[in-house]
Amino acid sequence: MAENNEFLFDLKTPEITWKGVSHGGASDVGSITDAEGEHGLYWCLDTVMHKNGEEGQEKTPMPHFHWRGYETFFVDSNYLWLYIDGMKAKATKGDIVHLQAGQSQGMLFLEDVKWRGTYHDFDTYPEAADVGRVKRMLPDLADDPELNALSPRGFMDSNPMEPFLCREVPTEQCPAIKNISRPHASYEFPGCSMKIVVERWENGGIKELDCAVMEPGFTAKWVKYPPLRELFYLRSGKVKFNMGGKEFVADDECVINAPRFLPRSIEVLEKAEMYDLGGQPYWSLFLQSYASIKHYEPERLTAETLDALKKRFKIQIESIGMK
Ligand SMILES: [Fe+2]
Repeated sequence: MAENNEFLFDLKTPEITWKGVSHGGASDVGSITDAEGEHGLYWCLDTVMHKNGEEGQEKTPMPHFHWRGYETFFVDSNYLWLYIDGMKAKATKGDIVHLQAGQSQGMLFLEDVKWRGTYHDFDTYPEAADVGRVKRMLPDLADDPELNALSPRGFMDSNPMEPFLCREVPTEQCPAIKNISRPHASYEFPGCSMKIVVERWENGGIKELDCAVMEPGFTAKWVKYPPLRELFYLRSGKVKFNMGGKEFVADDECVINAPRFLPRSIEVLEKAEMYDLGGQPYWSLFLQSYASIKHYEPERLTAETLDALKKRFKIQIESIGMK
C-alpha cells in the first residue's frame, strides 16, 4: 500500500483518496482530480459500478450518448458487457474502454467493477448540484417542474437515448475496447516499451493515451522545468518518484499528479504499467519520427536531432537509463 501525499492518490484506499463521494443505486463515485482548462483535461474519477441487469440480456442497459464528451475507463476488476454502436462485447480486467463523442453506449455490469475514468470536453452543469441541494433539503419539492426547469441539462453531458440493437462480437473486434497487448504501435527501448493505446484522432485531436511498460531498474529524468502537467496512472508495479525533491513510492492502482514546472524523475522498482492520463505530449508522432530516422538515416540520429524532435512534439523526458 502506498502512502498518500499531495501528489499521490492510492485508489486502494478510497476512504482517503475519494473526494466529493456520491453513492447512487448503480454506482459509487469518488472524485480524484478536477478538470482543468478549456477541454477539461486531467479529470479523474474512481467508480465502483454495481450490478445493473441480467446475464445475456439483449436490451441495452443505460443507453446514452455525449454531445461533446470523451471518456476513457480502466476496467480494474471483474468484467462488463459494453454495448456500443450496434456491437456488444465483453471487457475484462486489464482492458480499457474508450468512448467518443456521438457514440451510442451502454454497459451491463453483473458484479461490482472497479471502473476508473478520465474525461475531456465533458461539460458539467453546476445548476444541477444546486438544484440537487434544494431537493435534498426539501424533499417535498423534488418533483416540482418549476425547480427541475432550473436545471434543464442535468448534471453533465450524458444524454439518454433509446435502447439500440446490438450483435455480439469478439472483444478484439470492438474498436472501443483497448488493451496494451493490442496497441496501435509499440516502441522498444532498453528497460521500457512505449505503447500507443488511444491515438489522438480517437480523442478529437485533444489528447492521446500512451502506456510505458517498464522493467525494474529503469530510470527516467524529466527536463529541468517540464512545461506540461502530467497525471499518471500506475496500474501495476512499483515506481519510486522524485517530485521536486520529495521522494515516495507508488504501487498498483495509484494516480500520481505531476504539476508543470516541478522537476521530476522516476526509478522503477517492480515491473510497471504506467499511463499518462493527461495525454499532452505527442508520443505517437515523436516515436514514429524517431523510428523513421533510425531506419532510413541513422547517421542523423544525433543529440541535436533528438532535442529538436522532443521540442516539436512536447516530449519532456530528458534522459532514460538502467540503474
Ligand atoms: Fe458515457
